[in-house]
Amino acid sequence: VSAAANDQAWETAYLRFESFEEETRKFRERLRRIGAAGWSRESRTVELFCGRGSGLSALGQLGFSRVSGIDLSLALLLRSRGAANLLAGDCRTLPYASESHEMAIVQGGLHHLARLPQDLDLTLSEARRILKPDGRFVAVEPWMSPFLRLAHALSQNRLLRRVWKKGDALAVMIENERETYERWLAAPELILERLRSVFRQEFCRVFLGKLYYVGRR
Ligand SMILES: C[S@@+](CC[C@H](N)C(=O)[O-])C[C@H]1O[C@@H](n2cnc3c(N)ncnc32)[C@H](O)[C@@H]1O
Repeated sequence: VSAAANDQAWETAYLRFESFEEETRKFRERLRRIGAAGWSRESRTVELFCGRGSGLSALGQLGFSRVSGIDLSLALLLRSRGAANLLAGDCRTLPYASESHEMAIVQGGLHHLARLPQDLDLTLSEARRILKPDGRFVAVEPWMSPFLRLAHALSQNRLLRRVWKKGDALAVMIENERETYERWLAAPELILERLRSVFRQEFCRVFLGKLYYVGRR
């Protein structure tokens, strides 16, 4: 199966996994959980790997007004709603000026990178470059935990998948991103070491199958 067919199958499953509104609510809760209430609403913020923009909507709902987003997929970007400035581009070479942002956020993008650690290093160093001194880097990514193991096991059950549409969509997404997803989940120490070597850690926690990481430049 070609990479393009995989991407197409992943995007279709991603769109039926949860609605735009459900995903926006989920992202809003996650941002609250890691302390977004205390972050300046004036912060110039970019959401990397912004996809269809539900993370951007969550930021808008929390009162952040100077927000932009970047993603490789034009098809997903075209589904975005709201006022954020959008760019189609590669997060490994960001088209923003150095020290131009107070905040860079990734929600579920880093684990899509094809090469680990090379692409992670490129992306983190680009995020650092565009951040102002003391700027904030936020990442929420899948992380191996008992909760994630259970979700994987349930979503592999064929009978359950027939009635549990969300579990079925999750299983199709995993099938089509298996290589990068599994490589990511198998390298927690390497990933934390890379994050901590680029940013000064402010917050780091695993909760319900996700790593919540906040660092400062
Ligand atoms: C799970 S989605 C992220 C969801 C997104 N945060 C949202 O709010 O809807 C992962 C995204 O990563 C994008 N992507 C993968 N590799 C990329 C790269 N090198 N640069 C930019 N975007 C990339 C995909 O197009 C996809 O939209």
